[in-house]
Amino acid sequence: LRHLTSLENLPRETIERLLDRAEALRDACAHGTRKLDVLAGRTVLNLFFEPSTRTRTSFELAARRLGADVVNFDIGLSSTSKGEELFDTLHTLEAMHLDAIVVRHKQSGTPDMLVRHAMSGVSVINAGDGNHAHPTQGLLDTLTIRQHRPDFGNLTVLICGDIKHSRVARSDINAFTALGVKEIRLCGPTELMLPADEAPQVRRYGNFDEAIEGVDAVIMLRLQKERMASIELPDEAAYFAHYGLDRRRLGLAAPGCLVMHPGPINRGIEIASEVADGAQSRILEQVGNGVFVRMAVLDEVLAR
Ligand code: CP
Repeated sequence: LRHLTSLENLPRETIERLLDRAEALRDACAHGTRKLDVLAGRTVLNLFFEPSTRTRTSFELAARRLGADVVNFDIGLSSTSKGEELFDTLHTLEAMHLDAIVVRHKQSGTPDMLVRHAMSGVSVINAGDGNHAHPTQGLLDTLTIRQHRPDFGNLTVLICGDIKHSRVARSDINAFTALGVKEIRLCGPTELMLPADEAPQVRRYGNFDEAIEGVDAVIMLRLQKERMASIELPDEAAYFAHYGLDRRRLGLAAPGCLVMHPGPINRGIEIASEVADGAQSRILEQVGNGVFVRMAVLDEVLAR
């Protein structure tokens, strides 16, 4: 794999190889190996045009733990604010001899555009583009589920919330479908549901109590207000009443159902604190797995 811009059309073997590598790195870390030098002498650029806590930090940690040098491009202090266009910024940075660009952008398709315009030798990794894809989040969600429920052929997963604007939901659906998850359910208000022509294999619900019945894992999503210019925002209290995950609703799921969220969480809007911080929550485990998944991806695209 030279670039990673989406999980769509990625073969099952490639996804499994990345998950296996992430798992091996996690095991090595648990046995005391915190740093490797497989990417010594390589340079990774974090190019984030949208805010990030988890993805940016874990890509930086991942690159450093593999021995690479990391440059965090500060958009606020860059010449972007003086009107420099994206491709001029790209070519300027490439001239400094980078090996990989990790990019997040509000415009769907930006990482694929960078792949088409990048100089040969530079790998592009998508850290989230618009509502299109967040492939490393899809991988880390899958790794977290596999850790606890490895039998995907008997697994039912529910994704609930603002699906329409969610690149996480789309990458999760791609990964779960490729790995043969038995049933993928989506739940949310009609105006925030995945368009009917996308992912015909998933089951769509409007009623959360019905959707969560018997599921093995539930992935809650926040309302992405920053992408809702043309949609009237739901009243938050009413939204929680219909689509918030609390202890009562979690009781309708299968025993031990995994509670997941890509973050950032909005407590009391899509998830109650009693559940986000409860015994079934895997939210911080997802964050930890993010570092190992990003190490696996950097190793895959750069170790050549
Ligand atoms: N899950 C996720 O992408 O979080 P950040 O926006 O903090 O990177």
